[in-house]
Amino acid sequence: MAAKLNFVIVFSFCFILGANANRLFVPLEVGSWIEGQRLCAEKGGRLLNTNDFSFYLEETLKNFEPGRNFWIGDVQRISELIHIEGCYDRSSIQAMLASSILFTSALTPARCQEVCWNEYNSSYFAIKQEECYCLQGLKDITSLNLTSVAKCDYKCNTKEPPRACGSKDGGDVDALSVYKSSMVPGVSSYRCIKVECSSNKRYMNESCSKTLKPFCSQNVNMGASNWNISYDQCDKGNGYLDGRANLKDVMSKCGEIIERFPNDYVFWLGIRRQSFQTMDQGYSIRPDTLEKCEYFNTSSDLRQTDLNCSTARYSVCVLPNGMGRNGKTIPSDSTNEDPNGQNHTAVIVGGVVGGVLASAAVFIVLLLYTRYILSALQGHKSKSLLSVAKLLNSGMNIGFHGFPNL
Ligand SMILES: *[C@@H]1O[C@H](CO)[C@@H](O)[C@H](O)[C@H]1NC(C)=O
Ligand SMILES: *[C@@H]1O[C@H](CO)[C@@H](O)[C@H](O)[C@H]1NC(C)=O
Ligand SMILES: *[C@@H]1O[C@H](CO)[C@@H](O)[C@H](O)[C@H]1NC(C)=O
Ligand SMILES: *[C@@H]1O[C@H](CO)[C@@H](O)[C@H](O)[C@H]1NC(C)=O
Ligand SMILES: *[C@@H]1O[C@H](CO)[C@@H](O)[C@H](O)[C@H]1NC(C)=O
Ligand SMILES: *[C@@H]1O[C@H](CO)[C@@H](O)[C@H](O)[C@H]1NC(C)=O
Repeated sequence: MAAKLNFVIVFSFCFILGANANRLFVPLEVGSWIEGQRLCAEKGGRLLNTNDFSFYLEETLKNFEPGRNFWIGDVQRISELIHIEGCYDRSSIQAMLASSILFTSALTPARCQEVCWNEYNSSYFAIKQEECYCLQGLKDITSLNLTSVAKCDYKCNTKEPPRACGSKDGGDVDALSVYKSSMVPGVSSYRCIKVECSSNKRYMNESCSKTLKPFCSQNVNMGASNWNISYDQCDKGNGYLDGRANLKDVMSKCGEIIERFPNDYVFWLGIRRQSFQTMDQGYSIRPDTLEKCEYFNTSSDLRQTDLNCSTARYSVCVLPNGMGRNGKTIPSDSTNEDPNGQNHTAVIVGGVVGGVLASAAVFIVLLLYTRYILSALQGHKSKSLLSVAKLLNSGMNIGFHGFPNL
């Protein structure tokens, strides 16, 4: 009895969401956050992100699913390796600044990296305040002219360094902070990268709290400290913790280091992973990079955080709300620099408002009908419920997703 009632509740829930302009749906399977992402993607959608939320959505979830928790798309995770490449005048990299992605919420280097890697396959990316540029087709940046790192004095909104996000507004300074991505298999529990230039020359990941000398971009000799302090020290000396390295070629970096420091062998480099907030964009994410996943609790009406992203939950999905240029899906917290671009968030909210009105009427009918069946057809509940589903599914062309094939 309980299981069947449950089925009716889940069914009507799917139905209600389905009426929301066919945008929202709930797969009937439970699973981890990664599985939720996959279930949404299988039906052509992605997990619902906070940006898609509206009062009406929360009301809908609360009213129809008291006491359930749904994975949403917001997560905190660990980035791929980020190399600090320095500060560049816009004019010197102008030709590379093919496409800019403008973020409407706070940008971090890791967030720009995620978008550039997944949307444009570009390892190099540049940031100025909330602008993220994917430097397509750039194989090696050392041929371009660096500028004074003091010009890149705008700090991005992240506690965990790197924090340089280009120049502040005003004056005739127009500079960008440039970074490079390296993808290495597996995620070590150590987020920072050191270089060893003794007889056994190699790059190694290392605990960021370890005490080592920094290899700064400027020719200075700094004392040993943890990665964070090393980063700040190079910065104070009007340079940056040097991340200009090819992880496949340790000989040339060690050559450069030994020339400056003939008696020291181990240094921090400006290469590390960064913990960052992001949202489901359908990108392939390794489960071991997830730190915190969010879910919506319909009892408390709150977004809540789970440190265990493997917890089994339902997921709430949304169909993509717009395609960018070249058929690329625009990340939901960003817009391409397109003056004719629509405000897609408004479209979703509009859909939800309309959907709620339609849903209310439909739900009353459904509720009465379900009650009628439950009381009238004691012996054949299961069969009857399937009939309800079929009737509604065929009789009203809702076309929602996530409903099992009956
Ligand atoms: C992405 O770039 C790498 C090297 O830059 C190249 O080998 C690979 O084929 C590219 N992948 C796609 C999908 O363009
Ligand atoms: C780099 O700077 C030098 C000296 O200012 C200049 O001659 C050269 O053209 C610059 N190179 C690039 C790629 O901008
Ligand atoms: C970091 O550590 C992991 C696991 O120990 C290893 O597979 C990976 O190659 C290391 N990466 C570097 C750059 O040292
Ligand atoms: C580095 O700084 C970040 C942000 O302040 C902090 O969360 C982290 O614990 C620091 N790491 C170390 C090793 O000091
Ligand atoms: C959901 O919220 C209710 C009410 O605040 C709380 O009792 C419950 O523990 C929450 N459930 C989860 C899984 O967070
Ligand atoms: C996370 O949740 C999964 C599924 O409920 C469980 O098997 C696993 O033990 C949990 N891990 C931790 C660290 O609590």
